[in-house]
Amino acid sequence: MENNTLDNLKTEFKAVYHAYRSSYSDNNKVHESIRYLLDAPGKWIRPMLCLITTKALGGVIDDALPSALSIELIHTYSLVHDDLPCMDDDNYRRGRKTIHAEFDEATAVLAGDALLTDSFGLLSNQNNGLTADRKLRQISMLAKAVGGSGMVAGQSLDMEYSSNQKFTMEILETIHKSKTGKLIGACFGIAGITAGLNELDCQELYSAGVSIGLSFQILDDLLDNSPSTGKTSGKDAQSQKLTYLSIMSREEAKQRATASTEEALKIISNHTSNFEVRNFLLNLLERKS
Ligand code: IPE
Ligand code: IPE
Ligand code: MG
Ligand code: MG
Ligand code: MG
Repeated sequence: MENNTLDNLKTEFKAVYHAYRSSYSDNNKVHESIRYLLDAPGKWIRPMLCLITTKALGGVIDDALPSALSIELIHTYSLVHDDLPCMDDDNYRRGRKTIHAEFDEATAVLAGDALLTDSFGLLSNQNNGLTADRKLRQISMLAKAVGGSGMVAGQSLDMEYSSNQKFTMEILETIHKSKTGKLIGACFGIAGITAGLNELDCQELYSAGVSIGLSFQILDDLLDNSPSTGKTSGKDAQSQKLTYLSIMSREEAKQRATASTEEALKIISNHTSNFEVRNFLLNLLERKS
């Protein structure tokens, strides 16, 4: 995608992101913590995936902005809970203190609860050109991707297999596809719904997105000891997390990530021959943060 198109989409996304942030203006501690959280924006990979895919499929960007925001809110909530002392116990995220470290644990749990609930509120209250049927399909797809059989199941397995030597390649792939892949799957599937594709095509795009998510999480594993992530370096090894590096070399892990992206690109090319989406996905394999 020409940079300028990507920049334009980022600007449009920024406006809805800040409008949401402004809705939390009270002195209430949880409002303060949400403002703190949203002031350190992440890379916005998921909303950008949603927007560029919608565009590539011929959809309308204004129709895609609320779902792009709701996906980013789910992602942000998942990080707040992932960092809690009872989970990965991380004090740094996006270059600053995590919410439980800056505020307290109860505030972090509640901020996560707020973002998760607001995400579905946003999807059901979208004031744009989408039909009620499409909104409902988006809600249903997102709920399935991140609920008890989706991202949450992945997070549960991730915890169960920390410091646990009895793993297999299959378990590792399931963990990564569930904890990270399914939400990224929803970025593609929901873009399909926004653009008016039928359910079968949207499910196919969802599966391609899950493979992109697997690549994304493998890169996250590879970047764990890099200083440029804004997170504590070397945390996976320290916590004996099950990652691709528990099972293969860095080179093999990179090859696995590339293969999974290529698998996804094949499926995506059945729906759009847009080079920009392809370039964006290939660039993700080279990311440094
Ligand atoms: C980190 O996601 C957690 C994973 C699921 C790998 P990102 O690397 O997208 O984090 P931010 O949003 O840019 O901080
Ligand atoms: C995070 O995986 C997955 C979710 C938050 C759902 P990680 O635990 O590897 O993510 P980081 O490394 O803390 O960002
Ligand atoms: Mg984790
Ligand atoms: Mg973590
Ligand atoms: Mg990680």
